[in-house]
Amino acid sequence: MRDGEQTPGVALSPTQKLSIAKKLDSLGVDIIEAGFPIISDGESNAIKMIAKENLDAEIYGLARTNKKDIDAVIKAELNYVHMFIATSDIHLKYKLKLTRDQVIEKIIETIEYSKSHGLKIEFSAEDATRTERTFLKKIFKTVAKHGVDTIDIPDTVGYATPQYIGEITKDAVDITRLPISIHCHDDFGLAVANTISAIQNGARCAHVTINGIGERAGNTPLEELVMALKCLQFNLKLCTNIKTELLYETSRYISKVVKVPVQPNKAIVGDNAFSHESGIHTHGVLNNPLTYEPIGPELVGRNRWLTVGKHAGIHGINFMLQEYNMKPNPTQTKTILSKIKNICDQGKQITDTELFTIANEIIGQYKENKLVKLIGFSVSTGIGTMPYAFVKLNINGKDFFATDYGVGPVDASLNAIQKITGKISQLYIKEYKLASISGGSSALCEVTIKIEDASNNNISSKYVGEDIVTTSVKAMIDGINKIMLKKNKSGK
Ligand code: KIV
Ligand code: ZN
Repeated sequence: MRDGEQTPGVALSPTQKLSIAKKLDSLGVDIIEAGFPIISDGESNAIKMIAKENLDAEIYGLARTNKKDIDAVIKAELNYVHMFIATSDIHLKYKLKLTRDQVIEKIIETIEYSKSHGLKIEFSAEDATRTERTFLKKIFKTVAKHGVDTIDIPDTVGYATPQYIGEITKDAVDITRLPISIHCHDDFGLAVANTISAIQNGARCAHVTINGIGERAGNTPLEELVMALKCLQFNLKLCTNIKTELLYETSRYISKVVKVPVQPNKAIVGDNAFSHESGIHTHGVLNNPLTYEPIGPELVGRNRWLTVGKHAGIHGINFMLQEYNMKPNPTQTKTILSKIKNICDQGKQITDTELFTIANEIIGQYKENKLVKLIGFSVSTGIGTMPYAFVKLNINGKDFFATDYGVGPVDASLNAIQKITGKISQLYIKEYKLASISGGSSALCEVTIKIEDASNNNISSKYVGEDIVTTSVKAMIDGINKIMLKKNKSGK
């Protein structure tokens, strides 16, 4: 949580921090580094609130090697301190302006002070991986001798290779016989590999963040590490306490609170991690998911999503249409497929709702029984007033209306829609894209929306129109109707 909040642009209120801590605790993490108590009163109060919550996880606070920082940890009513000081020559010369001996002195003094106040200590030699190895070993020996409880090895600028991380982890284990932690940054995309290497060489605790957020390129992503340890062949008799089926939900929650989107192709929790586009892949997965899925999506709380695209094939298209109760004959499927490829060859993306429309044009006669109908809506926006929307829908023959605010008129309208449709299904808008497809202020706009329901059914929907708000509302309603069709068919 502490390094996660160091993500550029992220700052959390005490209430947000508490809600994240609870979420991490339900996920099953063993330790939460709740923050850096010295940095502000708000931070200190947030940490104190978290500590008082009596979570199953141990709560740690970060401190430099000085009395003021340690006092702040004590004031936040913590039992554990994560104490750090840089040990690399670059940091000593340009940041701390201390000699190696002075660093050792500071470390001993602060360990003694912390212990005299009953704190348990995890000690980090910041920039350990760029610290001269003999000096690093001396640090390990010194802190162990003076009674720290655990030692962490930070790869502060993500500079280490898996092999080197393995070697220095082994140094720490052999010299100290203490529990060793590993803290990796992802500057070269090696954070997971480096963390695993440390674990293979004796580390027993990994510092991680949800979605890999953190300073610069971030830290080791919890979800990737946990799934790699669980599923890959490392010959490690290890397990974590993480409830993997909560990984996706937790990732989405954190992304929403910290306002940092997850890249679509991110392993485990990215939008595309369990979606299949090519015909060859969808055919394989439909016969046996093991063909193209190294792990089942349900293991991390997700659903599989087949999408339409340039590489689509007969089996995938038929399967997707069946989800809407559509059964084209072989000639119709071929025509649908060639129409799809034609559109994709023009560089255009096809959404689920467009697939439905194309198929319906070809099969004909399919009368879509729309569960949700838009009766009307109005919005108000301007300067000095909060954008506001009124929406009236008919669901299964019954009228409902709702009002809501938003950051703009589109957001307000979609929020009002969700207030109503939340009664039949909790929906989450994963993506909203707006494009202008002709020039001038009367340009046609194209809105593409991706939504997901509480059972992780996904749908993409596109609408073209003249008015941005109306087009967005129609794309959303269309998407909701298709997701309801899917839901009714699958029973989920
Ligand atoms: O990356 C780092 O070195 C840190 C320390 C505070 C451990 O976050
Ligand atoms: Zn860090």
